[in-house]
Amino acid sequence: MKSIVVSMIAAAGLMAASFAMAVDMPDLAKKSGCIACHKIEGKLVGPGWTDIAKKYKGQAGIEAKLEAKVAKGGAGVWGPVPMIPNSPKVSAADIKTLVTFIMGLK
Ligand code: HEC
Repeated sequence: MKSIVVSMIAAAGLMAASFAMAVDMPDLAKKSGCIACHKIEGKLVGPGWTDIAKKYKGQAGIEAKLEAKVAKGGAGVWGPVPMIPNSPKVSAADIKTLVTFIMGLK
């Protein structure tokens, strides 16, 4: 009985892991052009979005700072390669949605 419970927990863990790996770029990120430089996990031109979430988790007011950075672009935090300004091509509301999505990643 105990081994059945253990294997059920293991199976649930595997399902959770594959679900986490299945996180895909939201349509808004595709439409907004973020996917040219970002992946959910791992560096492309810019940092992986899970790495951004880890770096800033728990910092007060971080969303507003990241929204400004995404809008205006900039370099120097992750390396010398700059992010292009995404505003006005991407609206402030869409940038907010994307930053909220990024900071919700684990
Ligand atoms: C031309 C390539 C490019 C595009 C397009 C791009 N990024 Fe970036 N992004 C980067 C680079 C490079 C960095 C690292 C900048 C640095 O080191 O300061 C970055 C950093 C970031 C960061 C972290 C900023 C920081 O200061 O830590 C966020 C959040 C982000 N991008 C979100 C987005 C979103 C959302 C979009 C789509 C609207 C987007 N990016 C489009 C290249 C890009």
